[in-house]
Amino acid sequence: MLKLEKVCVSFKSERQDKIFGHTRQQVLFDVSLDVKKGTCLGVLGESGSGKSTMGRVLCGLLKPDSGEALIDGVSVYASRKGKKTLQNKLSIVFQDYTTSANPRFRVCDIINEGLIVRQRREKVKLDKKQEIIKLLELVGLPADFYERFPHELSGGQLQRVCIARAVACKPEVILFDEAISSLDAHTQVQIMDLLIDLKSKLNLTYIFITHDLTSITYLCDDVLFLYQGRVTEYLPVDKIGQTKDEYARKLLESIVVFDVQEEEAV
Ligand SMILES: Nc1ncnc2c1ncn2[C@@H]1O[C@H](COP(=O)(O)OP(=O)(O)O)[C@@H](O)[C@H]1O
Ligand SMILES: [Mg+2]
Repeated sequence: MLKLEKVCVSFKSERQDKIFGHTRQQVLFDVSLDVKKGTCLGVLGESGSGKSTMGRVLCGLLKPDSGEALIDGVSVYASRKGKKTLQNKLSIVFQDYTTSANPRFRVCDIINEGLIVRQRREKVKLDKKQEIIKLLELVGLPADFYERFPHELSGGQLQRVCIARAVACKPEVILFDEAISSLDAHTQVQIMDLLIDLKSKLNLTYIFITHDLTSITYLCDDVLFLYQGRVTEYLPVDKIGQTKDEYARKLLESIVVFDVQEEEAV
């Protein structure tokens, strides 16, 4: 349902060339992908490999130099219709829940941001309080968190609130950009279990951006490796062991070591 076709992106580089002025730094090179409805695509790459830039192209926030982003076959950047379709269908959850949630907003106000979007789109009047309590329950938080402020929640709880906000607008696709990366390992697993649960309950499609291979194997159907702005591997997660890509192999080896250590600890 969501596609990229040969997307290239470059930014004006900081360095000034004496003769040519600003040079451009290319960040994405011919990136193509195809996210099927109801699946989860994992995007894996080290810091600076272009994951967030790719995410921004997918969300309609950054027009590529060349190439296409498509939602249900409609080009996102070529027409207003494409962007509108995307806005109606896609939600985003970022890594930094502390800055993505306004510290002066209460939990109910944060979740309400998503409801406002839905209300505008569906042109219905929602019983906000009832909806918010339902959403809190859906993400595994007690109803009495309603009036709390972000600083009164743990990182995991606040990320649950951000997830509630993302599903409040009834999206079909959610893009997670390092959404669990700054949580501790135990909380990460709890949030991933929540995401798996929500995905099947609400028929969602996910794009899950991360630098951590473990979460990909836990959550995703397909995985795309991004290395210095290029797709170096793109395959089903259960075939991941067969990858010939050097960077992917290196990551896989590191995870094997990790597994062994865990077994020893038990
Ligand atoms: N708005 C921007 N202007 C200039 N350079 C940028 C901008 N956004 C990202 N970059 C550069 O693009 C590269 C990829 O960044 P990013 O997509 O954030 O990578 P990742 O999310 O994988 O860490 C980095 O070298 C970064 O400095
Ligand atoms: Mg990033």
